[in-house]
Amino acid sequence: MSGAHAIVSTDRKAAGMLQFGAHRASMEARVWLVVAATCLAAVAAVSCSSSQLRRLSGADTFNVHCVQCHGRLGEGDGPDAVSRNLAVPNLRTLARRNGDMFPADTVASYIDGAAMPAAHGDRVMPVWGPVFDTTSQLLEGAETGRQRIDAVIDHLRTLQIE
Ligand code: HEC
Repeated sequence: MSGAHAIVSTDRKAAGMLQFGAHRASMEARVWLVVAATCLAAVAAVSCSSSQLRRLSGADTFNVHCVQCHGRLGEGDGPDAVSRNLAVPNLRTLARRNGDMFPADTVASYIDGAAMPAAHGDRVMPVWGPVFDTTSQLLEGAETGRQRIDAVIDHLRTLQIE
């Protein structure tokens, strides 16, 4: 409920400002009525959205954030790879290129980007750790960044070819 509290206290501050300069008592009463209605709506919206949050699968994350470069199957042929002429590696051969062992730790760290941020060196791919962390901070009950990365890695495992 922290999101709801934040909205409610923001609403209270806004209400304080509205009150300032409102001379007549009836006017104040009307303002408070509007504020109370807004609070209720905000609380309802927040609790609704958190109770209806759907678990994101690795495939969901991949299809939203990765396909434009890596392509549906991870073969490096997404529309942005083509239009921006990017050299995008084939994610289906990650295990094969690593002695048939899926290099989960290296892959997780590359996706997260904390070890190698975009502004540093010649990394083309965006860093995803901060993006996923922000979503989990904004949406109560959403997966953590680490959970999103683990799920997307499970999805990448399913795409591996021998
Ligand atoms: C803007 C295009 C783009 C997007 C979007 C993108 N990537 Fe990449 N990705 C690349 C490029 C290009 C590379 C090659 C290294 C580099 O230049 O950064 C790469 C490298 C990788 C690698 C390392 C591959 C290897 O062979 O070592 C992994 C794993 C990866 N991407 C996963 C993902 C995942 C998962 C997502 C979505 C959350 C994603 N990428 C989104 C362009 C992109």
